[in-house]
Amino acid sequence: MKAVRIHQYGGPEVLLLDEIAQPAPGPGQVLVRVRAAGVNPVDWKIRAGYMKEVMPVELPVTLGFDFSGEIEAQGPGVNQFKQGDPVYGTAMGTFAEYVVTGVAELAPKPHSLDHAQAASIPVGAKTAWQALFDVGGLTSGGKVLIHGAAGSVGSFAVQLAKAKGAYVYGTASGRNLDYLKELGVDEPIDYQSTKFEDVARDVDVVLDTQGGETQQRSFAALKKGGTLVSIVQPPSQEEAAKHGVKAMFLGSQPNVEQLIEIARLVDAGKLKTAVEAVLPLEEAARALEVSQAGHVRGKIVLKVG
Ligand SMILES: NC(=O)c1ccc[n+]([C@@H]2O[C@H](COP(=O)([O-])OP(=O)(O)OC[C@H]3O[C@@H](n4cnc5c(N)ncnc54)[C@H](OP(=O)(O)O)[C@@H]3O)[C@@H](O)[C@H]2O)c1
Repeated sequence: MKAVRIHQYGGPEVLLLDEIAQPAPGPGQVLVRVRAAGVNPVDWKIRAGYMKEVMPVELPVTLGFDFSGEIEAQGPGVNQFKQGDPVYGTAMGTFAEYVVTGVAELAPKPHSLDHAQAASIPVGAKTAWQALFDVGGLTSGGKVLIHGAAGSVGSFAVQLAKAKGAYVYGTASGRNLDYLKELGVDEPIDYQSTKFEDVARDVDVVLDTQGGETQQRSFAALKKGGTLVSIVQPPSQEEAAKHGVKAMFLGSQPNVEQLIEIARLVDAGKLKTAVEAVLPLEEAARALEVSQAGHVRGKIVLKVG
């Protein structure tokens, strides 16, 4: 099968389209025929070697975490699917014609979407869900500041927070402010021209998708007892104590129930996904470069088969 792999860390040139053996599902796993694979920032971070410490991988490794496709085969002990069932979810190595994943990481694909649209959802929507509700504890009537609200995690977070009945501040560059309104943001903030902490005040939850200075300044937006959830960089506990808030790092976890509920919301028209571009698998290197530039609206997706 075709697979986009790296044999060493580096720039776009280290991505190779290799011909490798099709993997076999072990106990509790399935083999998926990948139709489309979503591109996440973590893909270029792995390529560049930035994830060596926190997410060690053995080289060569196939990149890609999001997929939409069909069940091809089931491993020992798995019998809830049949060949050809459309599924979506996460796995390591989705930039390939086939991928093996655990049954805890996939669910029936939203039937109202094609594979490219479905592949744009799992990592982004699941991370948004876990950050806002499982870690952030956001409830109806709460206020939330969502950084990177035009990106993948951010755009799902905006919609999920609004569906929960929260008041949403969202940051983006000026060109995306109308888009933020469309997503449901109550107060869009242009991070290039406005200090977000002057607008968003006394919020219950901050979703930090940027780290660095954005994370540091976000403490000032929280009310006492509020929660900063970062998905990029462990926040300072000293700063948290100084502001009387909680500050947590989230690494998103497999969760079938959330994937099922997300598909239900999508099919009910309550959660939308934005696919900025669909590129062939052969153009994975370019797709990762665009992701690395940091201004994708929604998601870039690779069409696999
Ligand atoms: N811990 C986890 O489990 C986990 C899971 C998923 C993602 N992540 C990480 O979370 C981060 C976000 O992921 P993603 O997939 O949502 O990224 P993404 O879709 O690539 O984010 C792109 C968006 O970021 C916005 N942006 C760029 N600079 C900004 C700034 N200074 N302030 C506010 N917005 C800014 C851009 O808007 P403009 O074009 O308007 O600037 C663009 O829409 C990545 O670093 C990713 O690796 C972690």
